[in-house]
Amino acid sequence: MAENRKEINPYEYVEHFFSQTGLLVSMGKKSEKNVMALDWKTLGELWHIPVITVAVAPSRYSFKLLTEGIREFTVNIPSSNISEAIMVAGSSSGRNTDKFQEANLNAIDGKNTKVPTIQDCLLSYECEIVHETKSGNMAPHHLFFGKILKAYASKDIL
Ligand SMILES: Cc1cc2nc3c(=O)[nH]c(=O)nc-3n(C[C@H](O)[C@H](O)[C@H](O)COP(=O)(O)O)c2cc1C
Repeated sequence: MAENRKEINPYEYVEHFFSQTGLLVSMGKKSEKNVMALDWKTLGELWHIPVITVAVAPSRYSFKLLTEGIREFTVNIPSSNISEAIMVAGSSSGRNTDKFQEANLNAIDGKNTKVPTIQDCLLSYECEIVHETKSGNMAPHHLFFGKILKAYASKDIL
């Protein structure tokens, strides 16, 4: 099936990025992929490169994959067709559930990352982790900074 999306500049269409819950995909060394719901995210320029920063609590299975697995992630903003995936991704853990299967999500192989993006999303970003840090007193979350290698927008919002 032809992909209903186009490559974009990472800074385009960001109103959808900021206004909606995302789906964060990560992957272990054995190519086991996982998805979690993600509200705490930002996008901008750091160190002269386009960067997405995600805040992930150490208790998440996703945290283990981000720290011990492939040092990449993708952020995907779901279209209304797959919005129910947010509840699946945000209320169960990849430790004991294949959430791609559970939420009926289709993965699209990354062009620049091993970690896939998700079909039927308004926006998707392939990112390589370039830095990480504890978030300090604000929350126990850990911040992962991902250099944006590719960005896509659904043709429905172009
Ligand atoms: C709408 C929504 C937004 C969420 N945003 C975040 C977030 O920004 N950071 C985070 O660590 N957890 C967030 N969560 C919680 C995780 O998605 C949830 O704990 C998930 O089950 C973790 O899955 P995992 O164990 O497979 O990584 C959110 C949950 C929901 C429902």
